[in-house]
Amino acid sequence: MAKALVPEREITTMKIVLLGYMGSGKTTVGKQLAEKLGLPFIDLDDYIEENLNSSIAEIFAETGEIYFRREEHRLLKEIFEMHNNFVLALGGGTPCYSNNMDLVLNLTANVFYLKLSIPTLAERLRLEKDHRPLIKHLPDIELPEFIGKHLFERSPFYNRATHTLDADKMDEESLLKTIEEKLV
Ligand code: S3P
Repeated sequence: MAKALVPEREITTMKIVLLGYMGSGKTTVGKQLAEKLGLPFIDLDDYIEENLNSSIAEIFAETGEIYFRREEHRLLKEIFEMHNNFVLALGGGTPCYSNNMDLVLNLTANVFYLKLSIPTLAERLRLEKDHRPLIKHLPDIELPEFIGKHLFERSPFYNRATHTLDADKMDEESLLKTIEEKLV
């Protein structure tokens, strides 16, 4: 009987993208998911900082947001060109600029929006706004209103994700389990 043709090495790709507002847990969940699935984890903000040899705060302060968005788009493309398997955490603004959502959705169906309520985001960001140039100047009391308006502008982009996870109502374990179940 003819021997079945079995490729010596199975070629697989698994590209998982997490998106959501600042403070929604993209990095924390992404790292755990990557570890669980045995995939490399890439944080787009870290990737940008390493490539430009500068912190996000410095890039915003020294060269401005437009330059940051251009580099963010270039490096997002580079990640998809250079890697086949990864869990990638986007920056909070990435989906909203430079057709980045088209780029991502054309290359993978595993795109997850970690959706959180305004009060939860405000509470989290109150404690970790210092390294975030878009909110670090805001007094705590103004955070909920700022986040609310910002989310209103950004939601149409976030809502294009293949899956939306109601992260307010889920602990980390159920988030990971739900993501795993939906992977293709
Ligand atoms: C930004 C979010 C940040 C970072 C930059 C801009 C945004 O990423 O990319 O400060 O526009 O929401 P995180 O969502 O990881 O904080």
